[in-house]
Amino acid sequence: MLEIERVLLSEKEIADRVRELGNQITEDYQHLAVKIGDAPNILAIGVLKGVVPFYADLCRAIALPLAFDFISVSSYGQATSSSGTVRILKDLDVPLEEYHVLMIEDIIDTGLTLTYLKENILRRNPLSFKIATLLDKPDRREVPITADYNGFVISDFFVVGYGLDCMECCRNLPYIAAVRTI
Ligand code: IMP
Repeated sequence: MLEIERVLLSEKEIADRVRELGNQITEDYQHLAVKIGDAPNILAIGVLKGVVPFYADLCRAIALPLAFDFISVSSYGQATSSSGTVRILKDLDVPLEEYHVLMIEDIIDTGLTLTYLKENILRRNPLSFKIATLLDKPDRREVPITADYNGFVISDFFVVGYGLDCMECCRNLPYIAAVRTI
């Protein structure tokens, strides 16, 4: 059984920070933007499923033409830890040679998933590659990887809400909360 221990980030705190990230990304990518109506050259890749609310909000806060794609991976292991073994469940729909890739993640924990994904994406020769994550738990890092855009640094809590789950529970909470098993 799962119990919400406390709310870490409120709906408003998340919305304010996502808007800031969107503004920063807009500024940084402005020089690359194509005209509205032309095929976008910036591809926002979402890592399913936990990223969905963040992806939707962040992409709408970026005032530039974006193409969308999604990748889904599964890491084997316990519900509250990552094993580092990554398997692609749904791959991207498009080749990457003509895109500046912005990979959007919900959370970096050990860093194993993102390290695998980064290497996998870079092998496909995108024009450029950057990472945006909503949450970062640096205390848990097992491999050195950092995001270019980071919403919040949090301590070593297991968190749910705003897309994040514990065994599929709590994804649709509008806030982010620390949980414990009882
Ligand atoms: P990593 O490979 O350990 O960095 O784990 C990344 C993935 O583990 C994330 O994309 C999440 O799906 C999941 N994860 C890590 N920490 C949490 C958490 O606190 N709550 C929910 N999911 C988490």
